[in-house]
Amino acid sequence: MPETKSDFDLRPARPSDLAAVGYISHQTGLLGEPITRYFPDQSLWTDAFVAPYFASGCCNLAAEKNGRVVAYIIGNCRHEQLESYVAGKLPKILLSRWLKGAYPAWRRELGYLWRAWRSQGHDAPWDEYPAHLHINALPQARGLGVGSALLERFLDCLRRQGVAGVQLGTTERNAAALRLYRKFGFEVYQRYRSSFWKPVLGEALWHLRLVKKLR
Ligand SMILES: CC(C)(COP(=O)(O)OP(=O)(O)OC[C@H]1O[C@@H](n2cnc3c(N)ncnc32)[C@H](O)[C@@H]1OP(=O)(O)O)[C@@H](O)C(=O)NCCC(=O)NCCS
Repeated sequence: MPETKSDFDLRPARPSDLAAVGYISHQTGLLGEPITRYFPDQSLWTDAFVAPYFASGCCNLAAEKNGRVVAYIIGNCRHEQLESYVAGKLPKILLSRWLKGAYPAWRRELGYLWRAWRSQGHDAPWDEYPAHLHINALPQARGLGVGSALLERFLDCLRRQGVAGVQLGTTERNAAALRLYRKFGFEVYQRYRSSFWKPVLGEALWHLRLVKKLR
């Protein structure tokens, strides 16, 4: 029987989902494909890019199928909350785990981390759009409506928290994601060419900052 949206069970993400969400994020980090070849340490990926949302984010959701997390949306309601975690606690956590040898492939990952750090600065105004989000589904869970269901519930949660607006970053290569965001009324705040993915894909891509007002 074909799978449908009703096969997915949506619920708030729990601390115990961190490994599963980190896995999905790592498996989809290269424009929906695994980033494993370019960023081998799933542990460092999870600690740096996923765990901060579990520590200081909000409205995080997991979608399960047959008891397994197959998609998620993570985000935050107030940018400064996440920023203060990333600037304060996170470096100490990463350093202490690195010293214990938790990230054996770190040398291969420095290029990505450096590019991620350098590529900042295209955000929309955080006072107008204080929240942001990341959404990903494993390949077998895509195109079945789970992304729409997650985003709808996430936006409802932001509204309930009184958040004024939300922003996110993507590229013109993320076709399904773009369709999803447009369906929910996101608009282009900024379109810019970036060489972020060039070492991996061999070409610069058009990146987009999308925004949506919530009230
Ligand atoms: C983006 C993503 C989370 C969307 O989740 P999803 O469950 O596949 O999305 P849905 O099934 O709810 O579909 C959302 C819309 O996109 C469309 N869509 C789905 N797959 C598509 C594809 N491959 N190409 C173009 N449009 C697509 C659907 O038709 C739907 O639009 P409609 O309701 O107007 O028909 C998922 O596809 C994914 O993880 N992609 C790879 C990672 C990624 O790009 N993440 C976002 C990073 S910014």
